[in-house]
Amino acid sequence: MNFLELVKIRQSVREYSNIPIEKETIDRCLEAARLSPSACNSQPWSFMIIDTPELRDKIARSTFNELVSFNKFSLNAPILVVVTATKGNLKTKVGQMITSIPYYLIDIGIAAEHFCLQAAEEGLGTCMIGWFNEKKIKKHLHMSKDKMVALLIAVGYPKSESIRNKKRKPISEMSTFNLTDL
Ligand SMILES: Cc1cc2nc3c(=O)[nH]c(=O)nc-3n(C[C@H](O)[C@H](O)[C@H](O)COP(=O)(O)O)c2cc1C
Repeated sequence: MNFLELVKIRQSVREYSNIPIEKETIDRCLEAARLSPSACNSQPWSFMIIDTPELRDKIARSTFNELVSFNKFSLNAPILVVVTATKGNLKTKVGQMITSIPYYLIDIGIAAEHFCLQAAEEGLGTCMIGWFNEKKIKKHLHMSKDKMVALLIAVGYPKSESIRNKKRKPISEMSTFNLTDL
């Protein structure tokens, strides 16, 4: 599989089979995340793998409520990864103050996508989850105040093998060459 083929088979998976996931497989996903680039190489991420039923259930229940229920699928994910962020090292903190660009969140996004692409290569399905109750998750995981929960990733072997067509803007609407108008 070449890189573009891998990008095309990576899709958000919200229904999982109960095939167990080997630790070595998750380790390779973590290795892909570890090798991600980051502003000033600050590596402001950590990945907490949650796979014990009780804790996983608590984390899953922090991603939906009576009003917003679209993340209920997370209850059936064999693994939930909690991606936490610190605000980076001194250099990036100063850089962020000057430019107002939240480099640490860009870094988290890149590392999370590295994780998901390696997972796709392993035949695993993933779904990034950005809607959750951070306060609840921090409490369940006894997290310190200086860390934030930036993203969750649901992981499991997909129930179905079908790959959806991607709904995306055409290249002409998302890129320009030199000074041509969008
Ligand atoms: C930062 C981020 C947060 C997301 N949050 C959620 C979420 O809370 N729930 C969900 O079901 N999907 C979530 N998604 C998945 C997107 O809906 C999905 O990536 C997008 O619709 C494109 O579909 P695809 O991933 O299948 O290509 C999130 C994706 C990203 C990148």
